[in-house]
Amino acid sequence: MKKIAVFASGTGTNFEAIAEAIENQKLHAEIVCVVVDKVNAAVIEKARKRNIDSFVFTAKDYASKEAYEKEIVAYLQEREAELCVLAGYMRLCGEVLLNAYGGRIINIHPSLLPAFKGKDAIGQAIAAGVKVMGVTIHYVDASLDGGKIIAQRAFDVDPLWSHEEIETQVHKIEHILYPETIEKLLEGK
Ligand code: GRF
Repeated sequence: MKKIAVFASGTGTNFEAIAEAIENQKLHAEIVCVVVDKVNAAVIEKARKRNIDSFVFTAKDYASKEAYEKEIVAYLQEREAELCVLAGYMRLCGEVLLNAYGGRIINIHPSLLPAFKGKDAIGQAIAAGVKVMGVTIHYVDASLDGGKIIAQRAFDVDPLWSHEEIETQVHKIEHILYPETIEKLLEGK
């Protein structure tokens, strides 16, 4: 079974979708740990309920990004994680993580990259008045939402939809596309 680590900062609905896909044997992998940078993130409880270990840290307790990433890498290696799956992890990966796991870190972003990088991608897309939105899964490099694209799925925007309704649609797609894409990657397809 391929071992994956999920990184998150918040609610963790993508974490849950991945865990459920594993339980339903649609995704042949094991989540060996969750890496979380917010002590109050709801994803921590979601992991605990599934008996999945979490590494919770506060960046400002460390002297540098290198310092906390060294601990993350040691933690991941101890658990033999092979792929890092970023799911709402609101931090740029630094040199230490990229050197250890370069080419084996993926992220999901709620826009059709390279459009609308960074925070509140949905808000940016609404402000631009786009008629088609979507979700992107990409490899992570040192840039913000800039690595090579692995998968994308688009949808037409109903002009009457609110920000919240668009977000619901984005999540619906993410929860299908992320497990599917991870499975393909792990199977080498
Ligand atoms: C997702 O919409 C993802 O695209 C973005 O952050 C959100 C995380 O949501 N990077 P959740 O914590 O998985 O519910």
